[in-house]
Formats: sequence, structure tokens, C-alpha cells
Amino acid sequence: MTRTVYVNGAYVPENEATVSIFDRGFLMADGVYEVTSVLGGKLIDFAGHAIRLERSLSELDMAQPCDMDELLKIHRELVRVNEIDEGLVYLQITRGSDGDRDFLFPDPETTKPTIVLFTQDKPGLADSPAAKKGAKIISIEDIRWGRRDIKTVQLLYPSMGKMMAKKVGCDDAWLVEDGMVTEGTSNNAYIVKGNTIITRQLSNDILHGITRAAVLRMAKEAQMQVEERSFTIVEAQEADEAFTTSASAFVMPVVEIDGVALGDGKPGNIAKRLREIYLEESLKAAV
Ligand code: PDD
Repeated sequence: MTRTVYVNGAYVPENEATVSIFDRGFLMADGVYEVTSVLGGKLIDFAGHAIRLERSLSELDMAQPCDMDELLKIHRELVRVNEIDEGLVYLQITRGSDGDRDFLFPDPETTKPTIVLFTQDKPGLADSPAAKKGAKIISIEDIRWGRRDIKTVQLLYPSMGKMMAKKVGCDDAWLVEDGMVTEGTSNNAYIVKGNTIITRQLSNDILHGITRAAVLRMAKEAQMQVEERSFTIVEAQEADEAFTTSASAFVMPVVEIDGVALGDGKPGNIAKRLREIYLEESLKAAV
């Protein structure tokens, strides 16, 4: 089945969708994005993603191409026409193209943002074999820019980090700045000590994960302790458990960090429990 995608107001087959070669997303990584998961044909935490998108756009003085009701309609329509039961909806908004290359932003009165959405079909996303095995992590230096709270499409270093992990037979990388873990390449990072979940406090240093907010809320509701503070790789290696969260992998147990197995080297009970709670609760609230 040819996928139907959305580009600047039109639903078109993917091989007919076009964007200018002068688009600032392409030339300057001048764009923001969101990834929303789909379970049972419904969107998980759409409101959270929509609110973060508004904030990303406003931090970059970028116009919002359509209101959030319209955005929800587009998400739902793409899920419907592409018959997505489990998968993702990717959304990208860039500052558009004024038909040339210039460092200065084009006049927003005359240059409209580019908006693109597409679906990714991922059967078995919830019942993932990777989550049953747990992830092996390496640590690498965090050399990204200082506004990681804005979800921009500057994903070269996260891609390089995942390639570095793959090269040594691992699944992902955690990023370390000034000796402290910031987050994963495409997820937020957590360790568990006893009944306490520890994850870095919110700031410009990390993306304010939508899954993070939901998981911390659910953890508190389940009487777990939550500590928002930085931690080192050594503290993580000595922890009882570790995990990551993201819209694309939900709660992913971590079983090894820089070659050191955590606990018995299997996914931890708290991570497994949080994954179950997250999937159950999110499905109930899906739209
Ligand atoms: N990544 N930190 C970073 C650097 C991320 O790229 C992501 C998400 C997260 C988790 O945020 P959320 O829970 O809102 O998905 C944290 C998406 C999934 C991606 O780039 O594909």
C-alpha cells in the first residue's frame, strides 16, 4: 500500500509529495518536529505533543501553520487512511523557503512555514521483543547545542551516537556533559535505586519528554519515589535498574551500561511495571 502523507495542506501519495530544495529545514535544520505514537489506532498523549510543539515554534519565532484542532484532524486522518493500528505519526514544521539561501530568517509575512506529516507502521510496538531483552547502552560526550529543550530537527549527533553504539554491538547511547548524564540520543534516561526513580531535572539541557512527564506522574501514583537530579555513569552502573522513555519506545529497560551489567543483567521489575502501567493508562486516554 502506498502511504498517504500530508504536505502543506494536501494529502498525497508519498512519491508525489514535494518540498523546495531551498526549504530552510533542508538547508539549515531550521525546523521542529514531534513524534506521536499510535496504539489501537489511537494517538497517545496528543495534547502533550501539541503543547510542546507550540512551545518549540514560539522559542524559534516560527509561525504556527495551523491550530491544534486542525493538527489533530490531520493526525487522525493519516492514521485512518494508512490503516495504522500500532505505529507513529511524524510531524515536521520548518521555516519554509523564500526561494534562495540566506542566513537571515525570511519575512514571515511572505514566507509560510512548511508542514509535513507522515505515518510509520510498526506492528508489535507495544509488545516489543527489544523491551523484553532490554537495551545495552554506551556513554558518549554530549556535544549538542545548548537548547535541547526545543525539539529541533538537528539530529546528526544523535544519529552518530546510535551508529557508535551499533558499531560496538550496543543499542543506544547516553550523553554525558560535565560528568553527568543528560539524556539518551532520542529518549530520557533514568536509574532506579530501591523504590526510587532518579532522572535529570528539567532545564535547557534536555528535551522535556512527554513520556517522561506521564511516567513520573504514574510512578508517583503507584507509590514510587521520584528524585529529579543528575547522576553519573558510575552511579548508573551501580544502580539496581535503569531505563529510558520516549514516544517511540515507551519505557525501555536498560540492562548494560559501558559493558557493565545492571543487577542480574535482565530488565528490572520497576521498569517492567512502569512499562505495563504506561501502556495501560495511555491506551485508556488515547484519542
Ligand atoms: N525522540 N530526549 C530526546 C533527545 C528525544 O529525541 C526524545 C524523543 C526524548 C523523549 O521525548 P518524548 O517522550 O516526548 O518522545 C527525549 C523522538 C521519539 C524521536 O526523535 O524519534
